Amino acid sequence: MRQAGRSLPEYRALREGVSMLEACSTPELVVEATLQPVRRYGTDAAILFSDIVLPLRAAGVDLDITPGVGPVVAKPVQTLADVEAIPDLEPDHIGFVSEAVRDLVGELGDTPLIGFAGAPFTLASYLIEGGPSRTHAKTKAMMRGAPEVWHALAGKLAGVSGAFLRAQVEAGAAAVQLFDSWAGALAPGDYREYVLAHSRRVLAEVAATGVPRVHFGVGTGELLVLMGEAGAEVVGVDWRVPLDVAAARLGPRYAVQGNLDPTLLFAPWPVIEAAARDVLSRGRAAGGHVFNLGHGVLPSTDPDVLARLVDLVHEESRPAGADDERGQ
Ligand code: CP3
Repeated sequence: MRQAGRSLPEYRALREGVSMLEACSTPELVVEATLQPVRRYGTDAAILFSDIVLPLRAAGVDLDITPGVGPVVAKPVQTLADVEAIPDLEPDHIGFVSEAVRDLVGELGDTPLIGFAGAPFTLASYLIEGGPSRTHAKTKAMMRGAPEVWHALAGKLAGVSGAFLRAQVEAGAAAVQLFDSWAGALAPGDYREYVLAHSRRVLAEVAATGVPRVHFGVGTGELLVLMGEAGAEVVGVDWRVPLDVAAARLGPRYAVQGNLDPTLLFAPWPVIEAAARDVLSRGRAAGGHVFNLGHGVLPSTDPDVLARLVDLVHEESRPAGADDERGQ
């Protein structure tokens, strides 16, 4: 559950007076923010507290994360020279991430840590648009109008994200997730022509380690098969596509992750419970199922509702005959 921490009072206290990127760059804060939701909810895995733009900033790109807005880039990328000015990511740029991951793996014991990175399309969109965009118009204009600049940028970002994932796995992350959050803006033909090979390169970077790879985007119902083809074992599905439909599209080789609508958590409990059971039952149609929300936790979500949801999912997915020692 991405950003599960944002709805927690202990998270808000931890972040008091500390900017997002400063928090992501301070191993003790990364460790604490990662552990908070695990402590509270007893989730089956932890997701590293960081951000998809963190490695770009660590490599030297002038950007910040503005509260309520998202990533904002000082000098948007337009030309080949702008692309060439983006430094490659070296391991010593992100030594603090490796340190945080190592510390976390020690603290988490049997609970696996999920590392992650942003996929080239989603990162490129922030860099080209200068910030969040509804239409991704400049990004698509570069793809079609200056494909050589586009491929140079996406290739550079594939290198950055691949290096970021590799560093996390080498430090002990047990699984990785590639976030192509905004890929749903693309038609399948454009995804295949401009994006697939670059995302495949990122996922290939950790293929030899054998860690499971999750590939997720929002509004990507028409791209699920291509996102699987990019080299994932698990395809993340947002709330728009029922998991049994996603499983039929993907075939039995893939597990699915998802996909309770995050806004459903504001409904009365019986409605949430029925919807969660529906997600679980549809997920059984797939080669495997990681229960999750269909996108991040909204900051105003009631932490007690999340706790109840985690308990329900544990109760329902407990193997037959398991006793109460589960999760200990
Ligand atoms: O749950 C976690 O905290 C895990 C760590 C995590 C964050 N960002 C922390 C964060 C992860 C996995 C991300 C990935 C991320 N960042 C994505 C891909 C996932 C997705 O949502 O599809 C994207 C698109 C971003 C870019 C980004 N960073 C956005 C759009 C925002 C929200 C801006 C806002 O305030 O509304 C951020 C900031 C951010 N990243 C926060 C957190 C906890 C909130 C910062 C805060 O607490 O002030």
